[in-house]
Amino acid sequence: MPAIHAYVAFGSNLGDRAAHLQRALQRLQQVPGIESLRHSSFVESAPVGDGPPQGPFLNGVAEVQTTLPPHALLAVCKALEAEAGRILPARRNQPRPLDLDLVFYGDARIDTRELVVPHREWHRRAFVTGPLRELGVDLDARPRHEPPELLDTPAALAARVGDWLAGDCTIGLVPTMGSLHDGHASLVQIARGECDRVLATIFVNPLQFGPNEDFAAYPRDLAGDLAVCRAAGADAVFAPSVAAMYDPAFCSHVAVGAAADGLEGALRPGHFSGVATVVARLFALSRAHRGYFGEKDAQQLAVIRRMTRDLGFPIRIVGCPIVREPDGLAMSSRNVYLGAEDRRAATVLHRALRSACEQFQRGERDRDRLVARVRAVVATEPRAALDYVMLRSADDLAELPPGPVDGGRLLVAAKFVDGKRPVRLLDNMVLPS
Ligand code: PAJ
Repeated sequence: MPAIHAYVAFGSNLGDRAAHLQRALQRLQQVPGIESLRHSSFVESAPVGDGPPQGPFLNGVAEVQTTLPPHALLAVCKALEAEAGRILPARRNQPRPLDLDLVFYGDARIDTRELVVPHREWHRRAFVTGPLRELGVDLDARPRHEPPELLDTPAALAARVGDWLAGDCTIGLVPTMGSLHDGHASLVQIARGECDRVLATIFVNPLQFGPNEDFAAYPRDLAGDLAVCRAAGADAVFAPSVAAMYDPAFCSHVAVGAAADGLEGALRPGHFSGVATVVARLFALSRAHRGYFGEKDAQQLAVIRRMTRDLGFPIRIVGCPIVREPDGLAMSSRNVYLGAEDRRAATVLHRALRSACEQFQRGERDRDRLVARVRAVVATEPRAALDYVMLRSADDLAELPPGPVDGGRLLVAAKFVDGKRPVRLLDNMVLPS
């Protein structure tokens, strides 16, 4: 294997910092497979991140010429950190006697669970860029990692996913139709906490819109959506065109059964088949280990759970709590279409659900009286045109018989018609245990 130029950033803020660094550089030089080493001067810098109060770092960068493969070089760095007394695993951003990070390895792009090269943050850290410049590295010629990476074709997605899987990463999938708000962001954040790589998808899926629905007018804002995905921690965003997603001969659809009956399914014929078809395609393309869906769309979540079991997709479905505005309105991409008066009136849905939950807590158990309570509160708001109120079992939304219930999920849908255009809003709440 020909020798590669690699750059290792080093730092220390515990004990005799200069001695730790000098020793690490000496030891690196002795490692078989490291042919030569030169390093920058040491610079002092304040600690970054959210760690406990701690002293300043001494930092620098070493350029090595090496025949070691990248993961072997990483293993050497970890061994030297341990030798200097660094105890791992530890919480992030703790004081440490030695920190060695592989910044560049030739021109390689590496994206595995243990190692991401170029280093994700190199260009943001003056204690890395300064020493690199001192070593004569042309910073403008070096790639920056500015997630999320935008992927717009199934082929580009397949390539990235292939790299992640080869690097032993778990993948979290967050399907959306864009126009992202804090509810969507919460899904990305939950996925970020549970998976090595997070893929958000943004695709307004024509298959799930009826002929008289708002496909053409659905709000679209890719630049804003990318900013939300970046802040929430997505690694990549898959945002294909309709033509890239469905080729002209596309003709296979997922038929959904009882889970799609009633509720939204009754009012939007074909909607859940369209949802299930695109979600199945996203499962296949992303090869994700976990898929994140909001409880806001409780029937959609139930349909997807059922489809995943029925068709045997090797993915774990994670239901995520509803994120609300401060006044209780469930966040939705369609809220932007509410006129000012309707926006104020729309909080009635949340108030109605809460009122029935309070009745349940006070001992009311009768299914129909709980439903009637929601209806009565919604009826106090003349701007709301109720579509339905139901009490179903909390997870699979199976119908509950009349009479006493020991729990369940109240679901409501209503139209508000006086704004810029008619807006249908959904909300739901689980009866408290
Ligand atoms: P969309 O309406 O963009 O929603 C994407 C995901 O965000 C869904 O899982 C939805 O339940 C979740 N979500 C929306 N509002 C939320 C809120 N206030 N709190 C928590 N989660 C919320 O649902 C779809 O897109 C599409 O049908 C899709 C699954 C992407 C298939 O096209």
